[in-house]
Amino acid sequence: MPTKQPYVSKTAGRDGRYAYSEEERGVWSELFEHQMKFLAERAAPQFFEGIGALGLNGDEVPQIIDINSRLSKLTGAGVQGVPAIIPPKQFFELLSQRKFPVATFLRRRRDIDYIEEPDLFHEVFGHCPLLTNSAYCDFVERFGKVALSLPKGTSWHLFRLFWFTVEFGMIRTGAGIRAFGAGIVSSPSEARFATSGKPEMIPFDLMTALRTPYRIDIVQPLYFVIDSFEQLVSVLDQDLGAAIARARELGDLPARFETAA
Ligand SMILES: [Fe+2]
Repeated sequence: MPTKQPYVSKTAGRDGRYAYSEEERGVWSELFEHQMKFLAERAAPQFFEGIGALGLNGDEVPQIIDINSRLSKLTGAGVQGVPAIIPPKQFFELLSQRKFPVATFLRRRRDIDYIEEPDLFHEVFGHCPLLTNSAYCDFVERFGKVALSLPKGTSWHLFRLFWFTVEFGMIRTGAGIRAFGAGIVSSPSEARFATSGKPEMIPFDLMTALRTPYRIDIVQPLYFVIDSFEQLVSVLDQDLGAAIARARELGDLPARFETAA
């Protein structure tokens, strides 16, 4: 049995570009083509608009430098290459500057369905298209600013809000409920499950999201549905610190999954 090789972060060349192997190009291409086809009637229209606006395609592994220049013109957002998962403070700081951290390594073929660590496909295909949407960017930026203003011990609850929206959110559209969360659109297995009609979908509610535990290593048993990205921005008009304190007082809702050992 081959030993599991850990993922190694990539370093940009002097021209700001990252080198990808033929194998990595193949993985990008396969994932891109597969997901674009599968998500056609299942992902939010704003997601596809973003794919077009960024010029993403299955032929080339996209480069951060190119995405950055397009985003800065479109919404004033940006992306920054990071090694992999970064500490919460650094993460919130980047978001507060309207910048999204992007891990630059690409998953191997054996992890093609889902990878717990965010890779380039998750970051670029999953997150970047919606960074062309002003309201989505406003949410990201304000979320970062609010997070930085709150005491350290609130991160756990802040991540729940992020998880159930930016990562695994669904949105109501004229044509039905569509996926927009990066964890859904960038994962073939999550996309299949989330759009199968089997999982529970409930209208987004801040207090419920803050009190709902999640696991990163399973498909989600529950998805929250927002009405619009503007609704998401208005969530941050509330006093998030007070909401987190209240969520703590009330305690977590029962987990909809087996608790990890
Ligand atoms: Fe993500």
